[in-house]
Amino acid sequence: MGEDLIPRYWYNIAPDLPRPVPPPIDPLDSESSLVDRLKEILPHHLIDQEFSFERYIEIPADVRNIYREIGRPTPLLRARGLEKLLNTRAKIYYKYEGSLPSGSHKLNTAVAQVYYTYKEGYGVVVTETGAGQWGLAVSIASNMLGLKSQIFMTRSSYLSKSKRVKLMIENGAEVYPSPSDLTETGRGFLKQDPNHPGSLGIAISEAVETVLKDPWSKRYIPGSVMEYVLIHQSVIGLEAMEQMRREGEEPSVIIGCVGGGSNLAGISYPFYGEAVRRGEKPPRIVGAESSLVPKMTKGVYMYEHPDTGGALPMIKMLTLGRNFIPPSIRAAGLRYHGVAPSLSILIIEGFVEPRAYTPDQAREAGLLFYRSEGILPAPESAHAIAAAIEEAKKAGDREITILVNLSGHGLYDQDFYGV
Ligand SMILES: Cc1ncc(COP(=O)(O)O)c(C=O)c1O
Repeated sequence: MGEDLIPRYWYNIAPDLPRPVPPPIDPLDSESSLVDRLKEILPHHLIDQEFSFERYIEIPADVRNIYREIGRPTPLLRARGLEKLLNTRAKIYYKYEGSLPSGSHKLNTAVAQVYYTYKEGYGVVVTETGAGQWGLAVSIASNMLGLKSQIFMTRSSYLSKSKRVKLMIENGAEVYPSPSDLTETGRGFLKQDPNHPGSLGIAISEAVETVLKDPWSKRYIPGSVMEYVLIHQSVIGLEAMEQMRREGEEPSVIIGCVGGGSNLAGISYPFYGEAVRRGEKPPRIVGAESSLVPKMTKGVYMYEHPDTGGALPMIKMLTLGRNFIPPSIRAAGLRYHGVAPSLSILIIEGFVEPRAYTPDQAREAGLLFYRSEGILPAPESAHAIAAAIEEAKKAGDREITILVNLSGHGLYDQDFYGV
């Protein structure tokens, strides 16, 4: 049903950016090349996609079939209940990625990355996870394709999101609280503090170290930040473009929350690219972050390692620095220290407007959405809903059309809502 809406190609923003993404580099003091190391840890199809300048990348038929089986296209819905509650003339549409089996958009890239890993003959995927949305998606995709998965989960979330931990294990995944005693990186942090809350940056270092110990059977697959992750998430925006067209609508503003940037990029880049190619002004794009991890509003644009231990090459991005240990916020998917390179460029060039929301503002927006629409947004997505509500209120009597990415549901996030 609606299968014709599933795109045949992913969209890659590289040729449509105002300036190219600077290449990854090695730190000056590095003994061996970390850029070369990518070949030892990532599937080579994904390295090709990372540096591709092709605007459209064909979605393998097997991946497209899985997209259909997991329920793509996801619904585009109008939040009439919320509009009524806000007494606004703004139309609020949302793309509901929480309808996927894993409960979030993360499954779109998990399926693709596990598929390429399997195709290239490796048997194990290793990764990090914050709230567990990414880990759960990886465990489901690995199960579908018959691969093993090893998941380093930030300790603060491992303890507070135990339902997702159990679901991952049920899928056959091995889940370790990070920092763990399985890696040198983890042991170092545990020595400093045996109850270290962990961070995505530390968990990434642990995952990479684990792959480097056995590069013959393992591959590292990241949940955000890398450009190919953003490319896979373009299915969201490509579908939404066609769905909006069929409704006779065009968004005036597109909104998503920002952890590493993949769901915001996924929903907005296809709209941005189409406008730029036509020589038109792109729709406004708003990125919502947590005020406790203000990398977009307070970060510095510089070369930095994506992981805390410095196992990966440096990339140029807006960042709070790899040593930033975020507070143990419940919107754990927003705890990452940096923003994907292409999204960093669009923020600096003024195409993406960053906004920061406190946990209370996000919680209030999420509960308002629940009461008016019956869907409890993931804590991360609730930040995007807060921005949508702000936009609707600001519009006053103007009839604007808002498109917001509801990147996941929050049914396992009672720790955030207390309900
Ligand atoms: C539901 C949900 N939304 C958003 C994010 C943030 O990630 P990204 O910015 O890559 O979309 C996460 C990350 O874990 C998530 O679980």
